Amino acid sequence: MKVYKFFLLCLFLLSLISCAQVSNPKNDAVAIEQKIEVLLSKMTLEEKLGQMNQISSYGNIEDMSRLIKKGEIGSILNEVDPVRINALQHVAMEESRLRIPILIARDVIHGFKTILPIPLGQAATFDPKVAEDGARVAAIEASAVGIRWTFAPMVDIARDPRWGRIAEGCGEDPYLTSVMGAAMVRGFQGDSLNSPTSIAACPKHFVGYGAAEGGRDYNSTFIPERRLRNVYLPPFEAAVKAGAATFMTSFNDNDGVPSTGNSFILREVLRKEWGFKGFVVTDWASATEMINHGFAADPKDAAMKAVNAGVDMEMVSYTFVKELPDLVKEGKVKESTIDEAVRDILRIKFRLGLFDDPYVDEKKDTVMYAPSHLDAAKQAAIESVILLKNDKEVLPLNASVKTVAIVGPMADAPYEQMGTWVFDGDKTHTETPLKAIQELVGNKVRIIYEPGLTYSREKSEVGVAKAVEAARHADVVLVFVGEESILSGEAHSLADLNLQGDQGTLITSLAKTGKPVVTVIMAGRPLTIGKEVNESAAVLYSFHPGTMGGPALADLLWGKAVPSGKTPVTFPTTVGQTPLYYAHNNTGRPADGTELLLSETPVGAGQTSLGCRSYYLDAGFKPLFPFGYGLSYTTFKFSNIKLSANSLKKNDTLGVTFDLENTGKYEGTEVAQLYVQDKVGSVTRPVKELKRFARVTLKPGEKRNVSFTLPVSELAFWNIDMNKVVEPGDFGLWVSSDSRSGKEMSFKVVD
Ligand code: BGC
Repeated sequence: MKVYKFFLLCLFLLSLISCAQVSNPKNDAVAIEQKIEVLLSKMTLEEKLGQMNQISSYGNIEDMSRLIKKGEIGSILNEVDPVRINALQHVAMEESRLRIPILIARDVIHGFKTILPIPLGQAATFDPKVAEDGARVAAIEASAVGIRWTFAPMVDIARDPRWGRIAEGCGEDPYLTSVMGAAMVRGFQGDSLNSPTSIAACPKHFVGYGAAEGGRDYNSTFIPERRLRNVYLPPFEAAVKAGAATFMTSFNDNDGVPSTGNSFILREVLRKEWGFKGFVVTDWASATEMINHGFAADPKDAAMKAVNAGVDMEMVSYTFVKELPDLVKEGKVKESTIDEAVRDILRIKFRLGLFDDPYVDEKKDTVMYAPSHLDAAKQAAIESVILLKNDKEVLPLNASVKTVAIVGPMADAPYEQMGTWVFDGDKTHTETPLKAIQELVGNKVRIIYEPGLTYSREKSEVGVAKAVEAARHADVVLVFVGEESILSGEAHSLADLNLQGDQGTLITSLAKTGKPVVTVIMAGRPLTIGKEVNESAAVLYSFHPGTMGGPALADLLWGKAVPSGKTPVTFPTTVGQTPLYYAHNNTGRPADGTELLLSETPVGAGQTSLGCRSYYLDAGFKPLFPFGYGLSYTTFKFSNIKLSANSLKKNDTLGVTFDLENTGKYEGTEVAQLYVQDKVGSVTRPVKELKRFARVTLKPGEKRNVSFTLPVSELAFWNIDMNKVVEPGDFGLWVSSDSRSGKEMSFKVVD
C-alpha cells in the first residue's frame, strides 16, 4: 500500500513538473505584463527615455558602453559583429542599473548573407511559401550574429516605377502585398518570438510612402482617407494580424501631416482599430525631418508631436532623450504617455526572450550560406522569373544549340544582381549566369563571352561592336541587361525608365545579326522595354534575383525549370503613362481602342474627331504588360468555370471551381487568378480587384479541377459613409491567367 501511495505521489509531482514546462501563451503574457510593471516602477524618467532611444552603431564600443551603462540606449542598429554585440549586451546586463538588454536591429530586407530575390521579385512568384521560407532563412542567418529585429517587410503599395523603392515591396496590389507581407512576417518571427532564431518584423513605412508624387522619393502624398483605407492600409492590417511585433512610420506627409506626427494612423487606426500591441519606431530621423516639412518648429516641438501622436522609439535623431524631460515637466507630454511607450518596447524585449539570454554563440557562422539556404534562394529565384515573350519556342534551349554568345553587363555582375539593400551579402558567394551556365552545359555547348558593356550605364561603340562580332559566331545570343543595384532602392528614383547606357543599342545591334536574341533583364523595377521586346526572340524578366540568380536562370534557359513568375506590377510602354495600374477606377469615358493615335491623326483633324476618351494621343492606354502576366514553356487552358451560386447573402461564401489543363509539352505551373468587380457602388469601385490566386502545377495533358472560396465579407470596401461594408448589387468575376484576360461571369449580392 505504502509503495502504491508513493508511486501516486511521484506521478502527481511529475505531472506538476511537466505542466510547468508546457508554457501557456496566456500565462506568459500575464507574467510579462507583471514584469514590465515591476521594472517600470523602478525606472527614472531618463531611463525610460533611454529605452525610447535608438542609435546607429558609433563604431566606438567604449562610447556606446558608457551610454548603455547609464541606461540611455534602448536599441542599436547597424551592429553586426557577434563579438561586439555580446560585449554590448554584457554591459547592459551587468553594468547598467536595471539590466535591460539592448535590441539589435538591421535592415535585413531580402536576406542577410544569402540574398534572395528583391521583394518585388518574390512578389512575382505569387507564392507565399517562397516569401515565408526566404524570411526564415534571413532570420536564421541574422539572429546568428545577435540581430533580433529587422526593418521589413516593406508593404507599401507602389504604382509608380519611377519610385526607386518599388524594388523593396510587393508591387501595386493590396491583396498580393497583404498575402506576401504576412508570409514574410511569419518567416521572420517564426513560431514564437522567443525562439533564438526569431527576429521581430517591422512592417513599413506606415503609411502611403509608395504614393510619393511623381515617384520622387520622400515626396508628399495626397491620399484621401477612403483610398488610404481601401488600398494602402490593408497590407499593414494583414501584417498586424500575422503578429508583427513593431511598425515603422514613413517619411512622407500625407495631405499635410507627416506620418511621424500623425495620431490618426498611429493611435486611431493602428492601436484602437487593429489592436496592435507592439511598438512603433520612427524612420531614420523622421522625427526631426518634421522640421523640414514645416510641421514642427524645432527639435522639442518634433519630439512632442511624435510622442503624442503615438511613436514609441526614435531612430537616431536624439530629440526624445534630449527634449522629453522638459516637455514632461511642462506638462506638454504626459508621463503616462511615456510609460505606455516604454511598456510597448519592454514587452517586445521580453517576448524575444532577451531578458533571459541576449547573447549569441560567436562562432555560429556555419549557418551562413547553408546549402538549404542556397536551395531556398534558388527556388525563389526560379519562381520569380517572368517569361514575357517566347517566339517560335526559342526557349528552352535544346541540344541543337551548340554555340551561345553570352553578352551584356549583367551576365557576370555578382554585386549588381543582388539588388538594393544589400549590406551583408558577400558578392564572392554570388552565382552569376555566366558561371552557372558554364557549369550547367560543361563542354557540350561552346560559350563565347563578350560583355560588350562592363556596367549598365556604360556607352561604348567599341564594346557593342565586339559583342556583335561574338554573336555572329553563335547559334543563339543570350544578352543580360538591366540595372545596377544602385539604380533602384531608397532615394534612387528615375525619370527615365528605358535601359540605361548603350544597352538598348546593344540589343538592336545584336538583333540585326539575324541570330535569335534571348534577352534577360535583371532590374529593380519594371522598365520600358517595348523596343527590346520587339527585337528579341524571347525575354525573361528577372527582378534582381540575388545570390542564386545564376543557377536559376541557367536552369530556366535550358529547360531544367519552367518559368512561372507573373508581373506584380503593370509594365508601362513609356514613362509618361505612369502611374498605371490595373485596379483603377473607371472614367466616364473609358478608352476602348477606337480612339486615334497621333500617328493615325490626319493633319487639320477636327477638334472632336479623335475620340474623346481617357488615353494618351501618343501612348494609348494599354500597358506593355498587364499586372499578373507571365508565360510558360507550356500552355494552359481554363474551362468549366462554375460559381456555387449566382445570388449570395452577405454572410455567404462564394465557391468558384474551374478546370485547369496543361495543353503543352512541359510540366509547368500556372498562377490562376480570381478577379472581381463591384459594378455599382455608393462610390466608384476599381474595374477589377485580385481576390485570390493559386499556383497549380500540372504535367503535360493533366487537367485538374481547382477551387477558390471567397467569403462575401471580403467584397467589403470603405463606402460613401466611410464604413466598411458589402454593398448589395451586381458583381463581375474573372478566373484567368492575368488581369486582362478571361471571360466575365457574374453574380449578385442581396440583402
Ligand atoms: C529607410 C528605412 C530603413 C532605415 C534604417 C531609412 O532611410 O527609409 O526603410 O529601415 O533607414 O536603415
